[in-house]
Amino acid sequence: MKIILLGAPGAGKGTQAGIIKEKFNIPHISTGDIFRANIKNNTELGQKAKTYMDKGELVPDELVVDLVIDRLEQDDCKDGYILDGFPRTIPQAEELDKALAAKGDKIEYAINIETPDDFIINRMAGRRACVNCGATYHTSFMPPKTENICDKCGENLILRDDDKPETVKKRLEVYHDQTEPLIDYYKGTGILSSLDGTKDCEVVFAEICDVVEK
Ligand code: AP5
Ligand code: MG
Repeated sequence: MKIILLGAPGAGKGTQAGIIKEKFNIPHISTGDIFRANIKNNTELGQKAKTYMDKGELVPDELVVDLVIDRLEQDDCKDGYILDGFPRTIPQAEELDKALAAKGDKIEYAINIETPDDFIINRMAGRRACVNCGATYHTSFMPPKTENICDKCGENLILRDDDKPETVKKRLEVYHDQTEPLIDYYKGTGILSSLDGTKDCEVVFAEICDVVEK
């Protein structure tokens, strides 16, 4: 099961990917999580990525594409994967399709979680993230069992640097400009499904299951 999750920042891609991963036992590959782990470990990639992420801009394609394509070569991806936050530009999508086609492979589902901008701005301030395992919480909608501690791995939760309101606004602009065109791209390849991301998390997940299990 090879799935791409599309949607604006805060649409719920990471939240849904975490549940899909548990239910279908396939890896959740989030380029944002990979960059945040690199920033935490102060790697060269992390230092480069941080300069773009802090401004709400996209990290250049050349720092992302090979990283993901190499990741998909790993053994745990042979029965499928969920790509969260990649591709994010048309050139990234084209490079991904080219690399998969060279192996006689392709993405099966592109699932677009549609969420209006005003919903997103309200959600982001309450988000808390685990940089250790990638789990996502919300102070009101999905609180952890113990305040600021990850239920899954016990690490302290953080408020992401790019969740400041002005950076969220910039990320939404970048999304509409550079990532939203992917909706038409995947409509064109016939694998797009769109869901209402304003519904409860469980409802969104049930709709994802309807798409991938039909
Ligand atoms: P990334 O980490 O991918 O961020 P994003 O796409 O902006 O998306 P988010 O992680 O902010 O949101 P999400 O859709 O995962 O929502 P979540 O589930 O957390 O990327 C960060 C940065 O890295 C980018 O800005 C860019 O600089 C760089 N980058 C990454 N990939 C790149 C690429 N391919 N190319 C170039 N640059 C790249 O949910 C949000 C909140 O809402 C949570 O608190 C959650 O608990 C809550 N929530 C979720 N669903 C619901 C629901 N149904 N009801 C109520 N609350 C909900
Ligand atoms: Mg995310």
